[in-house]
Amino acid sequence: MSDPRFEQFLGRAIGLNAASIGSSAIERAVAARCKACKLGDIQAYWELLQNSDEEVQELIEAVIVPETWFFRDAQAFAALARLVMRGLPQADAIRPLRLLSLPCSSGEEPYTIAMALLDAGLTAGQFRIDAIDLSARSLALARQGVYGRNSFRGQNLAFRDRYFDATKDGHRLRDAVRAPVEFSQGNIVAPDFHADPAGYDFVFCRNLLIYFDGATQKHVIGVIRRLLAPDGIAFVGHSEAGLMGANGFTSAKIPMAFAFHRESAKPGATQARPVPSPPIHRPRREPPPLAKSRPVLPQSPRHEEKREAALPNLEELRLLADRGRLQEAALGCEALIRRDGATPDALALLGLISDASNDLGAAERYYRKALYLDPANAEALGHLALLLKKQGDHGGAKLLDERLRRLDKRRVR
Ligand SMILES: C[S@@+](CC[C@H](N)C(=O)[O-])C[C@H]1O[C@@H](n2cnc3c(N)ncnc32)[C@H](O)[C@@H]1O
Repeated sequence: MSDPRFEQFLGRAIGLNAASIGSSAIERAVAARCKACKLGDIQAYWELLQNSDEEVQELIEAVIVPETWFFRDAQAFAALARLVMRGLPQADAIRPLRLLSLPCSSGEEPYTIAMALLDAGLTAGQFRIDAIDLSARSLALARQGVYGRNSFRGQNLAFRDRYFDATKDGHRLRDAVRAPVEFSQGNIVAPDFHADPAGYDFVFCRNLLIYFDGATQKHVIGVIRRLLAPDGIAFVGHSEAGLMGANGFTSAKIPMAFAFHRESAKPGATQARPVPSPPIHRPRREPPPLAKSRPVLPQSPRHEEKREAALPNLEELRLLADRGRLQEAALGCEALIRRDGATPDALALLGLISDASNDLGAAERYYRKALYLDPANAEALGHLALLLKKQGDHGGAKLLDERLRRLDKRRVR
């Protein structure tokens, strides 16, 4: 039976909700620390904890969950790259982008942000990433920048060849990716917690809120609001998206990116509002992606009639995709196309769904079909450019980027 004093202590110190990792995990951590300190009983360890900041940090290291990897929930980084690409001409003229990764754990997240921005064509001088975490141990690993197999998951590991050197200790990150990232230690629930007062254009606060209770989640979401520039965008983990909506943030409606604007939607604004870009980026119509083309099951004529009459519109399908219901969204798109004929927006959405489902071949086909019907379709152009870059076709991507820029200029005039 766990001693509730330790759970309460950790709750006050770092916001940890014992239920999120289980009381037994805390019990095991306390027992292990007690043993490491060569203390015979829990009471003696409790007293040590009251008098030693070092031991508090050791206990924290024993209970935190540092799990992370490169390009985790990759659509967030693709969305970031798209948003930034749109504003590049402005970014040159104004100031470097400011980004925050908190919690950054052992560095995979902030370094992924750096790789995504470098891939999108930015130079290291055009952005700065503050990376903060509670764990001194994780930060030491982050600063080392050498990673083992666990940090590289999934099929698409082309980034490893571009940005790492293989060594006997693991893959060592190259300096170009390390340079724009600045690590520091911080506890987001501490009353004296502070970060760049100028405000961040993008805050990545992913897979942290899940460890807090309701009151702490509310508090931390308030901190995220304070940290963001007025037009900034916050990215959270997929199971944290509902919390942001419930606490006054507005979804940026980018499927699978779990991205939110600081400001609430204005009264009367439609759900399909285009994504306003962060300060440096010129807003353009925000795209949305979706998944694999799947056959729609044959229906009886009457059933078919009813189902078609109740078909969601394209914006509703975007919302579905945004919530991760990719297959439903894809089926809806296909049904819409059968009923109304193919439109560039529906095809671009199917491209995005395929992209999000890692079916890159289908994604490319959908984007190209959308562009065949409308060569100025910004969603398809932007996403296809990123896709080509991801596949190493930098020449093709450059041509599409140039087309996008020309379109932007025309719109501004
Ligand atoms: C699961 S990792 C998430 C890392 C990364 N954001 C991701 O999504 O892959 C959770 C991290 O939160 C950090 N953490 C926990 N409580 C924190 C707090 N109060 N302030 C800052 N960081 C905290 C832990 O040290 C751990 O590295």
